[in-house]
Amino acid sequence: MTRISLTVDGAKVADDVEPRMLLVQYLRERLGKTGTVIGCDTSNCGACTVHLDGTSVKSCNVLAVQADGAEVTTIEGLARDGELHPVQESFRECHGLQCGFCTPGMIMQSVALLAENPRPSEEEIRLGLEGNLCRCTGYHNIVRAVQHAADSMDTPAAAPTGGLS
Ligand code: FES
Ligand code: FES
Repeated sequence: MTRISLTVDGAKVADDVEPRMLLVQYLRERLGKTGTVIGCDTSNCGACTVHLDGTSVKSCNVLAVQADGAEVTTIEGLARDGELHPVQESFRECHGLQCGFCTPGMIMQSVALLAENPRPSEEEIRLGLEGNLCRCTGYHNIVRAVQHAADSMDTPAAAPTGGLS
């Protein structure tokens, strides 16, 4: 077992973990952060995307021990004071989801994308989300949601926190 200490959604945690434990397993099974989901076993779907020190990562592709000392933000840490993050709000307003399974990862990747490029073109949005798969929406409303979020995030108070990996 290896001792790790990290911050998850603003809360400090310390745990003994097996070196082979994946970050997504740690988040879900130890911390109960089931908002971060597992959609594949091939690192393809992006449903497990979180921010690791401000950079988006697929948490099924990161060991929990690699997050030692890091700050992790999951979909459950995006809202502030009961207010949805502007990207969450935009997905809701623009119907950027159907079954919702891909949505946590899509939103985390979108937040990172907008942190990197606050005014992305449609092509840049599609490229920025290419590592996140959706089986329901056909992606059009997801792209619209990111465009809508970019429009609504002109104020510094609404600025995103993440970055692209
Ligand atoms: S669970 Fe599919 S990429 Fe991580
Ligand atoms: S909304 Fe169902 S997989 Fe994207």
